[in-house]
Amino acid sequence: MSTADTITSRDDVMQKAKANTLISPRFYKTDYAAMDQLDMNPVRAEWDAMLAEYEGDNNHDHFQRTEEFAKEVKQLPPELHQEFLDFLISSITSEYSGCVLYNEIRKNVTNPDIKALMTYLTRDESRHAGFINQSLKDYNLAVDLPNLKSSKAYTYFKPKYIFYATYLSEKIGYARYITIYRQLERHPDKRFHPIFRWFERWCNDEFRHGESFALMMRAQPHLLRGANVLWIRFFLLAVYATMYVRDHTRPMLHEAMGLHSDEYDYDVFRITNTITKQVFPLTLDIDNPAFRAGLARLFKISQAVERAKAQGGVIGFVKRAAWSVAGLATFARLYLLPTMPNELPAQMRMQPAW
Ligand SMILES: [Fe+2]
Ligand SMILES: [Fe+2]
Repeated sequence: MSTADTITSRDDVMQKAKANTLISPRFYKTDYAAMDQLDMNPVRAEWDAMLAEYEGDNNHDHFQRTEEFAKEVKQLPPELHQEFLDFLISSITSEYSGCVLYNEIRKNVTNPDIKALMTYLTRDESRHAGFINQSLKDYNLAVDLPNLKSSKAYTYFKPKYIFYATYLSEKIGYARYITIYRQLERHPDKRFHPIFRWFERWCNDEFRHGESFALMMRAQPHLLRGANVLWIRFFLLAVYATMYVRDHTRPMLHEAMGLHSDEYDYDVFRITNTITKQVFPLTLDIDNPAFRAGLARLFKISQAVERAKAQGGVIGFVKRAAWSVAGLATFARLYLLPTMPNELPAQMRMQPAW
C-alpha cells in the first residue's frame, strides 16, 4: 500500500477514517429546509412501492455474525492485511457517512415521504457500518463511530449535488459489492475473508438506496437537463476517478481475489454505466483509450503527489504543487472527452440483475 502508513493501532484507524484527502470518503451536510420541500407526487406509485419494500425489511436478519464467521477469519500476509484494513476502514467511513447524512436529514424534516425514506436509509447504513466494524474488532481495531461523527470535517453540498453524488455512490457501491461477490462465487478458494459472503444481500440494500435517489431526481426533471447535465458529467467523472485512484493503491487486495484493479474497476464502471441510464442523460465513454490513459495518468500523478508529500520541505512542496496542477489538467482533459447521450426510459425502476 503506498498512500497510507502502516495501521497497527486504534489511533491509526481513527486517523485514517478522519483524513480528508481527495480520495478519502467525506461527511456531508446539506440544506434541510430544501429537502423538506420535495414533492414526490410526480412519482407517487413507484415511490410508495419502494417505501413498502423498505418496510418489508428483507435484510433484517442478515447483518449478524454466524459462528462460522469468526472461525473463517485467518491471518493474512502482512501487505494484504494492511490493504484489507484500508479497505475495511474506507468502507466503514463511507457507509457511516451515509448514515450520518441520512440521519441529519431525517431529524430536520417533517415531510413524511422524506422522513420515512431517511429513517430506512439510516437503519440500513448503520447496520452496514456496524457489521464491518466487527471485522476490525477481530484484529483488535475499530472505528470509534460517535467520535468520528463529532470530529470529522463536514463538506456542505446543496441538495442537487447530494442527489447526484449520493445516487452515484449508492449505485457504484452496489456494483463494487456484487462484482466482488460474483468473482468469489466463481473462485471460492480466493475468498480470503468471510465478510465477502455477506455482499450479495448487502448490495441489494445499496441498489435500493440508489433507486430512492433516482426517484427523487425523476420527481425534479430539471435536475436532469440543461446546464445541470454538466454537473452530472462532473460527478460521474469525479466518482469514477476517485474510485480508480483509491483502488489502484490496493493492488494486492484485488490480486488476492484473482482480479486486477483495472479489470475490477472497469467491470464496476460498466455495471454503473448501465444502471445510471435509468436517470442520467449521458454516460462516460469508458472504452475510449484516451479515457483509460487519463485515469492511469491520474493514478501516477497521485503517487507522485504522495512521494512529494513524504519528501517534505520546500522541494517537496514545489513538486507537490506542480503535480497537483498536472492532476487538475488531466481531470479537465478527461472532462472534455466526448460522452454518450442517453434517452431516459419511461419506466425508471430497475432490478439488481448482476
Ligand atoms: Fe450501505
Ligand atoms: Fe447505501
